[in-house]
Amino acid sequence: MKQRIWMLPDRSDFLRERTRKIKAVGSQEERLSRDFVDTWDTVAAHGIAAPQIGWSLRAFIWKGEEMSEPEIIFNPKVLRARGELKDYDGCLSVPGYYCSTRRAAWIELTGLTGDGKPFRRKYEGFDARILQHEIDHLDGVLFIDRIDDVREGYTLDEAPSEDGGETTLVHVPASDELIAFIERFRRPLPGHALVW
Ligand code: NI
Repeated sequence: MKQRIWMLPDRSDFLRERTRKIKAVGSQEERLSRDFVDTWDTVAAHGIAAPQIGWSLRAFIWKGEEMSEPEIIFNPKVLRARGELKDYDGCLSVPGYYCSTRRAAWIELTGLTGDGKPFRRKYEGFDARILQHEIDHLDGVLFIDRIDDVREGYTLDEAPSEDGGETTLVHVPASDELIAFIERFRRPLPGHALVW
Protein backbone atom coordinates (compact mmCIF):
# COMPACT_ATOMS: atom_id res chain seq x y z
CA MET A 1 0.00 0.00 0.00
CA LYS A 2 1.16 3.54 -0.69
CA GLN A 3 2.55 5.03 2.51
CA ARG A 4 3.11 8.59 3.59
CA ILE A 5 6.76 9.61 4.00
CA TRP A 6 7.63 10.22 7.63
CA MET A 7 9.63 13.35 8.15
CA LEU A 8 11.06 15.79 10.66
CA PRO A 9 9.96 17.14 13.02
CA ASP A 10 6.89 14.96 13.74
CA ARG A 11 8.54 11.57 13.35
CA SER A 12 11.98 12.48 14.63
CA ASP A 13 12.01 9.76 17.32
CA PHE A 14 11.14 6.93 14.95
CA LEU A 15 13.56 8.12 12.26
CA ARG A 16 16.33 7.99 14.88
CA GLU A 17 15.78 4.34 15.85
CA ARG A 18 18.07 1.52 14.86
CA THR A 19 16.11 -0.95 12.74
CA ARG A 20 15.93 -4.76 13.05
CA LYS A 21 17.57 -7.26 10.74
CA ILE A 22 15.21 -9.57 8.92
CA LYS A 23 15.54 -13.34 9.38
CA ALA A 24 14.14 -14.31 5.97
CA VAL A 25 11.86 -12.86 3.34
CA GLY A 26 8.40 -13.88 4.60
CA SER A 27 4.92 -12.39 4.50
CA GLN A 28 5.92 -9.33 6.56
CA GLU A 29 8.81 -8.54 4.22
CA GLU A 30 6.55 -9.04 1.21
CA ARG A 31 4.12 -6.53 2.67
CA LEU A 32 6.96 -4.06 3.17
CA SER A 33 8.10 -4.68 -0.42
CA ARG A 34 4.64 -3.83 -1.72
CA ASP A 35 4.65 -0.65 0.38
CA PHE A 36 8.03 0.29 -1.13
CA VAL A 37 6.86 -0.25 -4.71
CA ASP A 38 3.50 1.46 -4.21
CA THR A 39 5.15 4.46 -2.56
CA TRP A 40 8.08 4.70 -5.02
CA ASP A 41 6.05 6.14 -7.89
CA THR A 42 4.53 8.85 -5.70
CA VAL A 43 7.82 10.52 -4.77
CA ALA A 44 10.91 11.79 -6.54
CA ALA A 45 13.82 10.14 -4.77
CA HIS A 46 16.93 8.03 -5.29
CA GLY A 47 15.88 5.80 -2.41
CA ILE A 48 13.39 5.22 0.39
CA ALA A 49 14.42 3.44 3.59
CA ALA A 50 11.99 1.35 5.64
CA PRO A 51 11.81 3.76 8.63
CA GLN A 52 10.69 6.54 6.28
CA ILE A 53 7.46 4.63 5.69
CA GLY A 54 6.98 3.44 9.25
CA TRP A 55 8.79 0.07 9.23
CA SER A 56 11.60 -0.68 11.68
CA LEU A 57 13.40 -3.21 9.48
CA ARG A 58 16.75 -3.17 7.70
CA ALA A 59 15.52 -2.63 4.16
CA PHE A 60 15.33 0.03 1.48
CA ILE A 61 14.34 0.56 -2.13
CA TRP A 62 16.70 2.47 -4.40
CA LYS A 63 17.47 3.16 -8.04
CA GLY A 64 21.03 3.62 -9.24
CA GLU A 65 21.94 5.84 -12.16
CA GLU A 66 22.09 3.05 -14.75
CA MET A 67 19.15 1.02 -13.43
CA SER A 68 15.84 0.96 -15.31
CA GLU A 69 13.82 -0.23 -12.30
CA PRO A 70 14.17 0.37 -8.56
CA GLU A 71 15.46 -2.51 -6.44
CA ILE A 72 14.72 -3.64 -2.87
CA ILE A 73 17.59 -4.66 -0.60
CA PHE A 74 17.35 -6.33 2.82
CA ASN A 75 20.03 -6.48 5.52
CA PRO A 76 22.61 -4.35 3.68
CA LYS A 77 26.08 -4.27 5.13
CA VAL A 78 29.13 -2.37 3.94
CA LEU A 79 32.12 -4.71 3.99
CA ARG A 80 34.73 -2.26 2.73
CA ALA A 81 34.81 1.43 1.86
CA ARG A 82 37.44 3.54 0.08
CA GLY A 83 38.04 7.07 -1.09
CA GLU A 84 36.02 10.17 -0.44
CA LEU A 85 33.48 12.05 -2.50
CA LYS A 86 31.87 15.34 -1.53
CA ASP A 87 28.58 15.82 -3.33
CA TYR A 88 25.04 16.99 -2.72
CA ASP A 89 22.73 15.19 -0.34
CA GLY A 90 19.04 15.54 0.41
CA CYS A 91 16.29 13.47 1.95
CA LEU A 92 12.51 13.09 1.73
CA SER A 93 12.42 13.13 5.53
CA VAL A 94 14.19 16.51 5.64
CA PRO A 95 12.13 18.31 3.01
CA GLY A 96 13.44 21.43 1.34
CA TYR A 97 17.03 21.34 2.58
CA TYR A 98 20.06 20.18 0.61
CA CYS A 99 23.73 20.24 1.48
CA SER A 100 26.89 18.46 0.47
CA THR A 101 28.25 15.62 2.58
CA ARG A 102 31.44 13.59 2.45
CA ARG A 103 30.89 9.91 1.78
CA ALA A 104 33.00 6.99 0.66
CA ALA A 105 33.62 6.98 -3.10
CA TRP A 106 33.63 3.18 -3.33
CA ILE A 107 31.96 0.46 -1.29
CA GLU A 108 31.59 -3.27 -1.24
CA LEU A 109 28.13 -4.27 -0.14
CA THR A 110 26.45 -7.50 0.93
CA GLY A 111 22.79 -8.11 1.60
CA LEU A 112 19.74 -9.92 0.32
CA THR A 113 17.84 -9.08 -2.84
CA GLY A 114 14.09 -8.47 -2.65
CA ASP A 115 13.44 -12.20 -3.11
CA GLY A 116 15.92 -13.18 -0.42
CA LYS A 117 19.00 -14.13 -2.44
CA PRO A 118 22.36 -13.18 -0.91
CA PHE A 119 24.66 -10.94 -2.95
CA ARG A 120 28.04 -9.25 -2.76
CA ARG A 121 28.63 -6.27 -5.09
CA LYS A 122 30.84 -3.21 -5.58
CA TYR A 123 29.53 0.30 -6.19
CA GLU A 124 31.15 3.64 -6.85
CA GLY A 125 30.32 7.30 -7.37
CA PHE A 126 26.77 8.50 -6.92
CA ASP A 127 25.36 4.96 -6.58
CA ALA A 128 27.70 4.29 -3.65
CA ARG A 129 26.56 7.60 -2.16
CA ILE A 130 22.84 6.73 -2.42
CA LEU A 131 23.44 3.34 -0.79
CA GLN A 132 25.36 4.88 2.11
CA HIS A 133 22.56 7.40 2.63
CA GLU A 134 19.94 4.62 2.77
CA ILE A 135 22.01 2.41 5.09
CA ASP A 136 22.45 5.41 7.41
CA HIS A 137 18.65 5.58 7.75
CA LEU A 138 18.63 2.00 9.07
CA ASP A 139 20.91 3.11 11.91
CA GLY A 140 18.85 6.21 12.69
CA VAL A 141 21.36 8.51 10.98
CA LEU A 142 20.24 11.37 8.71
CA PHE A 143 22.41 13.17 6.16
CA ILE A 144 22.22 16.36 8.22
CA ASP A 145 24.37 14.56 10.82
CA ARG A 146 27.19 14.36 8.26
CA ILE A 147 27.27 18.01 7.20
CA ASP A 148 30.42 20.01 7.85
CA ASP A 149 28.70 23.41 7.90
CA VAL A 150 24.91 23.73 8.10
CA ARG A 151 25.12 27.20 6.53
CA GLU A 152 26.36 25.66 3.27
CA GLY A 153 22.86 24.23 2.87
CA TYR A 154 20.37 25.50 0.34
CA THR A 155 16.83 25.14 -0.88
CA LEU A 156 15.74 24.78 -4.49
CA ASP A 157 13.53 27.32 -6.18
CA GLU A 158 12.12 27.55 -9.67
CA ALA A 159 13.31 30.45 -11.77
CA PRO A 160 12.03 31.44 -15.21
CA SER A 161 14.65 30.90 -17.88
CA GLU A 162 15.90 33.96 -19.74
CA ASP A 163 14.44 32.89 -23.08
CA GLY A 164 10.99 32.47 -21.55
CA GLY A 165 11.05 28.68 -21.90
CA GLU A 166 10.81 26.13 -19.13
CA THR A 167 11.71 27.12 -15.58
CA THR A 168 14.98 25.95 -14.11
CA LEU A 169 15.87 25.02 -10.54
CA VAL A 170 18.21 27.39 -8.76
CA HIS A 171 19.95 27.12 -5.41
CA VAL A 172 18.77 29.59 -2.80
CA PRO A 173 20.75 29.90 0.46
CA ALA A 174 18.84 28.35 3.36
CA SER A 175 17.01 30.88 5.52
CA ASP A 176 18.07 31.50 9.13
CA GLU A 177 14.85 29.80 10.20
CA LEU A 178 15.61 26.65 8.20
CA ILE A 179 19.19 26.57 9.46
CA ALA A 180 17.93 26.82 13.05
CA PHE A 181 15.55 23.93 12.35
CA ILE A 182 18.35 21.74 10.96
CA GLU A 183 20.63 22.62 13.88
CA ARG A 184 17.88 21.63 16.29
CA PHE A 185 17.33 18.18 14.78
CA ARG A 186 20.76 17.11 13.64
CA ARG A 187 23.06 14.90 15.68
CA PRO A 188 26.52 15.70 14.35
CA LEU A 189 28.75 12.68 13.87
CA PRO A 190 32.47 12.79 14.43
CA GLY A 191 34.13 12.11 11.08
CA HIS A 192 32.07 10.99 8.14
CA ALA A 193 30.81 7.97 6.27
CA LEU A 194 34.22 6.34 6.10
CA VAL A 195 33.79 5.47 9.78
CA TRP A 196 31.92 2.18 9.65
NI1 NI B 1 16.85 9.92 3.10
